[in-house]
This record gives sequence, C-alpha cells and structure tokens, in this order.
Amino acid sequence: MSKHYNRYTVTAALPYANGPLHIGHIAGAYLPADIYVRSLRQKGKDVAFICGSDEHGAAITIRAQKEGITPQDIIDKYNKQIGDTFEKFGISFDLFHRTSSPIHHETAQDFFKNLEEKGHFELNESEQYYDEEAKQFLADRYIMGTCPNCGNDSAYGDQCEKCGTSLSPTELIDPKSTITGATPTLKTTRHWYLPMNKHEDWVREWIVEGTLDGRPHHDPKEWKNSVMGQCKSWIDQGLQPRAMTRDLDWGVKVPVEGADGKVLYVWLDAPIGYISATKDWAAKEGKNWEDYWKKADTKLVHFIGKDNIVFHCIIFPIILKAHGDFILPDNVPANEFLNLEGAKLSTSRNWAVWLHEYLEDLPNREDELRYVLTSIAPENKDSEFTWKDYQERVNNELVAILGNFVNRAVVLTHKYFKGEVPVAGEFTEMEEGIIKEMKELPLRVEKLIEQYKFKEALIEAMKLARLGNKYLADTEPWKLFKQDPELVKTILNMALQIAGNLAITIDPFLPNTAKKIQNMLGMESLDWNQVGNPELITAYDRLAPAELLFSKVEDKTIEAQIEKLEKTKIAQQPVEPQKEETSFDDFQKMDIRVGTILEAEKVKKAKKLLKLTVDTGIDKRTIVSGIAEFFAPEDIIGKQVSVLVNLAPRKIRGVESQGMILMAEDKDGSLSFISPTGQLSEGSIIR
Ligand code: 2FM
Ligand code: ZN
Repeated sequence: MSKHYNRYTVTAALPYANGPLHIGHIAGAYLPADIYVRSLRQKGKDVAFICGSDEHGAAITIRAQKEGITPQDIIDKYNKQIGDTFEKFGISFDLFHRTSSPIHHETAQDFFKNLEEKGHFELNESEQYYDEEAKQFLADRYIMGTCPNCGNDSAYGDQCEKCGTSLSPTELIDPKSTITGATPTLKTTRHWYLPMNKHEDWVREWIVEGTLDGRPHHDPKEWKNSVMGQCKSWIDQGLQPRAMTRDLDWGVKVPVEGADGKVLYVWLDAPIGYISATKDWAAKEGKNWEDYWKKADTKLVHFIGKDNIVFHCIIFPIILKAHGDFILPDNVPANEFLNLEGAKLSTSRNWAVWLHEYLEDLPNREDELRYVLTSIAPENKDSEFTWKDYQERVNNELVAILGNFVNRAVVLTHKYFKGEVPVAGEFTEMEEGIIKEMKELPLRVEKLIEQYKFKEALIEAMKLARLGNKYLADTEPWKLFKQDPELVKTILNMALQIAGNLAITIDPFLPNTAKKIQNMLGMESLDWNQVGNPELITAYDRLAPAELLFSKVEDKTIEAQIEKLEKTKIAQQPVEPQKEETSFDDFQKMDIRVGTILEAEKVKKAKKLLKLTVDTGIDKRTIVSGIAEFFAPEDIIGKQVSVLVNLAPRKIRGVESQGMILMAEDKDGSLSFISPTGQLSEGSIIR
C-alpha cells in the first residue's frame, strides 16, 4: 500500500541537554533523519524537520548536581553546544528548539489539561521510593538497580538501557538512590496515571495490523523487525497504567489544582516538544503548524534510537489519540546501537568519539564521518566503529573512487579543453550502457531512502562514482588525446555528466561534497528532477578550477585517536586493591631517605636498567634501578629521590645494588620519582 502524502513532519529524538553528542547519537537518529529529509527537499517536498533539546527530567538535574551548577546552566550550556555540533555536521533541522521555552511549557500544559478534562487520567495514591537523606521521591533516573529482565545491574527506574525493557522503580532488584546511594524507603504520594491498558486494543490493531479506526493507516511490513518486535512484546505483556507526573521541581508544572511540587513526566513533555517546535517554526515561516500535525495527508516519521521505541510507538501515540485530531506516525525507523572499538559507547565511562572533538581533531572532514557512519549504520543490528575502518573507508572509497573520479574528469577537461565542457560525438554501446545506468541507479537510491535503507542507498550511490572511474580507466582519454581528440571530447563530456548526476545522487549523504562538485561543474541546482539527464552539464560551459574533494587520512591521525581512547581505557582501570595490613613496627623497620643522583649510566645489555651513584647523606653508593625505559641518564643527574637505604644489597647483572629508588607507577605502567617538593639535605628521613 503506498499512500500519497502532501507534507512531511520528520522528527529526530530530542537529545537531553546534559552532555555533548557522540558518534552513536548521529549514527542512531540524526544522520538517517537528515538524509531522509534532504532527499525529500531535493524533490521539492513540503517538509518540517524538527528537533530540539530535551531539557527536563532527571537526566538534567542529576548532571547539574554532578557538575555543581544549576539545571539552567546545564541546559544553556548543552543546548548551545549540541545545536552548534548539529549545524557543523550539516544536520539540517528546520528548527532546533528547546523544551524549556515558554511555548513548550504552554503547549505541554494544554495537552495535559485537555487529557485531564476528557477524563483520560486516573488519579492514584501509591507508595513510592523516597530518599530520606535527599528528601526526594525517586523516580526514573533517580533510582538504579538490577534489571529483572536481563540482570543488568545499572538499570534505571524507568528503563533498562541494556535490554530496552521499560520498568517501574518497584520492579528493580536491590534499588539504590542515585543521589545518595542510599537504600530508599517507601512513602505515599499521588499521581496522574495514563491507563494505557484501556488503549491496548486499538494500539495493537494500529501497530500490528496497520489499521486505525477501521481504516488502513500504514503498512506494518514497512516497519523494521526490531521495532515491531519490541512493540509486540510490550503489547503482549499487557499495557500498564503509567504515571504522567512526578514529584520534582524541575520541569513543566502540572497545570491543575492540588499539584504543587509536581511536574509532568519528562516522557510526556518531551515528545510534545516536537509539536511546540513546529508551532514556533510555522509562526516564523508564516505556515500553519496544524497542517503538519493534524492533516491525514501529512506523513509523520520519528527517527530515534532503539531505547526510545516504546515512547514513540506506544505512549506518545496514545497521548496523541487521546487528545484527538492528531495524526500518528507512519513509521518509526529506530536504529540499533553503535559500538566503538569493541565496547559499548558510554558517556559516563567517556568511551566515545565526541563530535565536537572530532571537528577539532579532524577539521573539514564532516562528510567523511557522515559517509562512514552511514556505511556502518546500525540499521538492523548493532554495529561497530573503528578508526582503522574509518581510515580505510575514507582512503579506499572516498579518496580513491569518488574524489579521484571527479578530479580526473575536471582536471582533464581543463588540460585538454581549457575547462570548456566538450561536445559529445557518437555514443558507443559503452556510453549507452552508462546513460541507462545513470537513469536507473538514482531511482534505486531514491527507493532505498524511502524505505529507510540508507546504508544500501549509499552503496548504490557510490556505484555511480565507481562507474565513472571504470569508464575513465577503460577509455584512457589521456592516452587518446594525441591521435583522437574528438573521441576524448565524447569521453570527457560523458564523464562530466556522470559527475553531475553523482553530485545530485550523493547530495543527501554528503552535502558538502555535492556542493563542491556543483560549483566545479557550474550546476545551477542539485534538484532531483534533473537526475538521470545525460545532458545535465551543458557543452561550452566553463568549469571552475578543480578542487580536491577528499584527502587521505594518514596513519598518524588515526593513531592519535586510538591513543586517546587507550588513555580513556587506562584511566578507567580499577585501582589495585589494598594490600594486607602491616604493623607499625614493620613499617618502622624501613629506612627511607632523601638522596641525590650524582651519576647515571646504562647497564650494558640490560634495556631497563640504569646504574646510579646516589648521595644518601650517609654515603655515596651504587644503586641499580629499572627505570631506563623512562629516563635518560643525563636528565636525572642532580635529581632528589626517595631511597630505601637499608634494603639488603643484591647483585643485579653483575653490579651490586645497595638500596632501592622508590618510584610511583601509573596505571599505564609509566614511572615517576617520589621527590621532595623543595630541595632537602641528603639523608633527610622519610616517614
Ligand atoms: O533518550 C533521549 O535522549 C531522550 N531525550 C529522547 C527524547 S525524544 C522525544 F520524545 F522528545
Ligand atoms: Zn535489562
């Protein structure tokens, strides 16, 4: 079933404004959404591409507590940083909004009041976990414990991020407050519940059958298996009433009498944020926001990561339908998770490639990351980013194929025809074949994008570059020019047509690159309606100078990135456990003094050893020390160090060592001296 739509509302999950973005975020939701939207815009469709930051909920207040600043400081800081990062990566939202904005508070409160008036809530009193020390109820991320479903010991009170199960705090095994670490007590409170159980029947029919109010709504076969699977398992377990309010002071105030100290549940307020953002955008653009949310000929698509599936497929649709008038999503193409160098991406463990750091460390390589992340997108199962793979894809695909082809076509046109697009002569079977492919291939790309298969779509798009490369390699115009310049005209004309069509085809994926090709070839636009045209680039037009599209990623660049990750790993290693207890008397037996290194030389045939002469204040003695890998002899002469002077002498590599230099060993195995902060007299006692 293929429905005709006149308008598109495309949303991408509102990221919490509580930290920077990493590659997992854009691979999961924002990049696929952006490719989808760019493709629609290229076809002249009416689209609202909506995002913003999610600025309520425990994610924000907990981070603020951690950083010792206010929630307002946190959201201002990260709303700005996240917004900037999106812009630099070309994620082309029509609006990047904020749920702290007045229009959002108003919209969310109106929603709540509407549902309340229509009797969609049940007011219930219940016992909930409470932190006596922090004097706060513990919902959602304020409470952690073991997931009853998968055993993950760091599941939150609302959800286990490992297995995706939605939880309530009372389901957690061994719950602990995330504020104080205390075991919570139970205390009575009152909340507004959404009786999701009452919506179960229509939700099942809508998701599984694709029908709503007895009419066809969407094609369930178009939904990803993983998304459908999660939804079914939720529905099969039976939908449960869910509290839509919280005892917190940070958030959208509950707009009814007797709700002091209560705010809307963040997962009620956040998705409504899509609507508030649309209102703001429409007002600025002179459009009617309702067209984008209430008209049946509008296609609503939510791009999210898999941890957000239940909220977008079940809870938010229930809210929209309960309110009435609103359309429901046609699809929710959630991605799975991206891993990094063999481990799960993790903000708390700093195991991530942070996008703002990428922009600094690898400047002007936004399209390269877009390319790699699309190529490895976790569309149907978790996938993995490694720097080696990044380097290989950039060097072997973008540089060697795409960049190389476009560059040769433009450079050769400059070389042989002073940059003027040559007129094509007779076509052979080879050119006819290329023209056919040039028409068909973009249509396949288009179809795949429509089906949310961005990875395959990109592979297909790259085939056009491969085709161009092969064409030049097969025809070798550089060898032909002397004897047959007319033939070279045909070849280069054809090559430029391929390059032009390539620019249009890759535009949704690699917008900066497409723009560069457009400029070089002097194309007026990259509109989709021109794709497949074998006379896209007009003869006699003049090309702009050739510009390199990509450059190789050097080994040292990725080595630096790998090293950065290694350091993170080391920093995360646990500290050695404490040794067995020792007595004061045993400690007293050790005689540790300040000494000065007078001489130092390498011990022959021993990589790790230095032979030192040390002034201990008591005497000048020889000590052999295993520090040669970290210190050059000439650098340590004159250095004051700590010396265990009464250690029994022993022979090391034929040299008698009379004591030991004390060293501190860091997690990465590197050594430092334990030196006094100021100059002391030799023989000073350390105790
Ligand atoms: O998981 C998250 O990061 C949420 N902040 C996503 C919210 S999406 C939407 F509903 F607002
Ligand atoms: Zn779990």
